[in-house]
Amino acid sequence: MNVDVILGLQWGDEGKGKIVDVFTPHYDIIARFQGGPNAGHTIEFDGKKFVLHTIPSGILHKSTMNVIGNGVIIDPFIFMREVENLRLSGFNPEDNLLISKRAHLILPTHRLLDAVYESAKGKAKIGSTLKGIGPTYSDKMGRNGLRTGDIPGADFSSKYKLLKEDHLKIIHFYGSDVSELRIDGCTFDEYEAGWFDALEKMNKFHFIDSEQFLNKSLDEGKTVLAEGAQGALLDVDFGSYPFVTSSNTITAGVCSGLGIPPRRIGTVYGIFKAYCTRVGSGPFPTELFDETGEILRKNGHEYGSTTGRPRRCGWLDLPTLKYSILLNGVDRLIMMKGDVMDDFETISVCTHYTKDGRILDAFPFDLSDEKIKPEYEELPGWNSPLKDITTPEALPTAFADYIDYIEKATGVPVDMVSVGPDRNQTLER
Ligand code: GDP
Ligand code: IMO
Ligand code: MG
Repeated sequence: MNVDVILGLQWGDEGKGKIVDVFTPHYDIIARFQGGPNAGHTIEFDGKKFVLHTIPSGILHKSTMNVIGNGVIIDPFIFMREVENLRLSGFNPEDNLLISKRAHLILPTHRLLDAVYESAKGKAKIGSTLKGIGPTYSDKMGRNGLRTGDIPGADFSSKYKLLKEDHLKIIHFYGSDVSELRIDGCTFDEYEAGWFDALEKMNKFHFIDSEQFLNKSLDEGKTVLAEGAQGALLDVDFGSYPFVTSSNTITAGVCSGLGIPPRRIGTVYGIFKAYCTRVGSGPFPTELFDETGEILRKNGHEYGSTTGRPRRCGWLDLPTLKYSILLNGVDRLIMMKGDVMDDFETISVCTHYTKDGRILDAFPFDLSDEKIKPEYEELPGWNSPLKDITTPEALPTAFADYIDYIEKATGVPVDMVSVGPDRNQTLER
């Protein structure tokens, strides 16, 4: 068997959580391969809403096993808060969740470092979620990090102290006073105490060599779905650097983040919104600063699932979508949130970029280049509600034409459309 993949093709928040949940009944195992609690994956059904940050979005199906892969980074404090929330709703995540021993830990001082680096950048700040992502992945690559497999070791405490001391020196160098810094409203000491408490509670979970488990499961004929976090334009290599996250969000990340050989990659499903959003700083060619952008934000409830920040909104951007399809080897597209555009007489799509009046053939190295201009085509809107439509035949013609237009432009079939946040508001074509 091969590993199928679901990932985001824009700047994150495409609706990956919803679709992973919808797909879960077809898979034995759901595995997250990168990112950390910077992610916020929303699942809605029966009037209930769950936002997952570290735990894979298959967790709400009790018969499916979920795996947090080696490429993921974990903040025990945030992880245990997620676990408690699930328990309150009658789920027992320790029954169907396994954690890689090779997943790195986000230390409380990683979160302080994130804040210190961001504030030192001033206007050039990334707009990080301040969950410690950049500093933790830096320590992983710098070979200084701590992994979940280190927790039971007799020297864990001394390793922790050493790394913490290093971090405190950097924080001091930047002129920050730890006693004045806050993490999610807590003092450092409070957060650290909660972190250690959570670390203890994490003991109940099974820590495994997930690369062995996954490859063995595939050999036994089990089906595996890899769940991406963030989106292709936030990939550390190919995204709008430096306004990116610190992991490989693309299909290649599945191999390194789960220990899956490339030949075992199966169908790649690419998720995109019918428009675009971005949260945090960085270039966004089709961003709308007018009333239309406001309508998208309002109708789409475009506020970050992790930080609550308003998301920047704009028209669908085909050059970025095509670039993401190329990087990920997308086989099938899934279009989300068409219903958010219900009220428009006309809609616009960015078909290509120009620079100094010339069409750009290749995706630009520097998307921040102010000379790059998005060029648009205007299409008829459907101007009717989609949210209660349950069959593809009942979709308005202008909406079906929009999908055909995207399929033609990208050369990839749109297999599924989502017309609302609920599990049931999903149509196969
Ligand atoms: P993820 O990070 O890719 O999992 O996406 P998020 O959960 O951060 O953001 C997607 C938001 O859109 C969530 O609030 C979802 O409940 C919601 N959503 C998902 N699909 C649809 C849809 O088709 N229509 C509408 N209106 N909302 C949707
Ligand atoms: P999901 O999985 C949207 C953005 C942040 C910031 C940049 C770097 O829910 O789609 P980081 O905290 O990683 O150092 O922030 O990346 N970002 C996301 N934007 N959705 C996400 O995840 C994101 N994770 C990080 O806003 O601009
Ligand atoms: Mg999200």
